[in-house]
Amino acid sequence: MVTGGTRGLGFAIAREFLNEGMSVVCASRTPGDFKVLEEECPDRVRYWQTDVTSPESVAGLMRAAVDLFGRLDVVVANAGVNRDGKVERLDPADWDVMVGTNLTGVYLCTHAAVPYLRESGGTIINVSSSMATRITVGAAGYCATKAAVEMFTRVTAIELGRYGIRVNALAPGILAEGMGKELIQNDRIWEKYRKRFALGRVGDVAEAARAAVFLASDDASYVNGDILEVNGGLQWA
Ligand SMILES: NC(=O)c1ccc[n+]([C@@H]2O[C@H](COP(=O)([O-])OP(=O)(O)OC[C@H]3O[C@@H](n4cnc5c(N)ncnc54)[C@H](OP(=O)(O)O)[C@@H]3O)[C@@H](O)[C@H]2O)c1
Repeated sequence: MVTGGTRGLGFAIAREFLNEGMSVVCASRTPGDFKVLEEECPDRVRYWQTDVTSPESVAGLMRAAVDLFGRLDVVVANAGVNRDGKVERLDPADWDVMVGTNLTGVYLCTHAAVPYLRESGGTIINVSSSMATRITVGAAGYCATKAAVEMFTRVTAIELGRYGIRVNALAPGILAEGMGKELIQNDRIWEKYRKRFALGRVGDVAEAARAAVFLASDDASYVNGDILEVNGGLQWA
């Protein structure tokens, strides 16, 4: 199950999971590009309308995933939003949207999935960001929610380890699709940022998605409570 599995990074994660032979439920408020996945893999992918800020909606999603495919093995809490704004002009409503989606949404996914993951011995991947640990002026709300996601990941990994449930976070740098797109679309901004990337380029969403495949797989059977950074070598300041 991938929240935000209909666009950007979540779409790429869903696609990589499908390529691995898994069955996938993509959850978001609107179907986005879901049709593309459905055309590629009609038997193994389903869309489930979900608002990750709502406890009832997320509980319904986890039940639906089990009803649709019989079990729940992997939960990717990827849905996220960014609202730009220095703190003085950051609107309280925008703050609430970021906290509700990026942080409460992650908590609700873990909370609702645990009973099913205890049965399957499954795993959770929370999507963070390099900005969780790097000061980004104008993004206090986004940075704060992602930092909180990383600590939530570390604590829940310890709490849930006794059930055989691994919990890790994936922290991408800047990717060429989704939220990261803006950076490379504006030549002036990209010239300013380019020197921060050791590889001289932003990442492809598929490159971050492959890291999610690793975290979900048995190859990562002893990886728990980790924050896996996938940023091509990022020197932020
Ligand atoms: N792209 C990057 O450069 C980058 C870098 C670091 C981290 N990340 C992280 O990667 C994740 C995905 O970002 P992205 O760049 O792929 O963004 P995106 O293209 O804007 O996609 C966001 C996804 O989340 C869904 N979503 C948003 N609010 C939701 C809600 N309340 N309930 C359910 N679904 C919701 C969206 O669908 P609906 O709007 O239809 O609900 C969409 O599918 C985020 O957590 C982001 O912080 C991205």
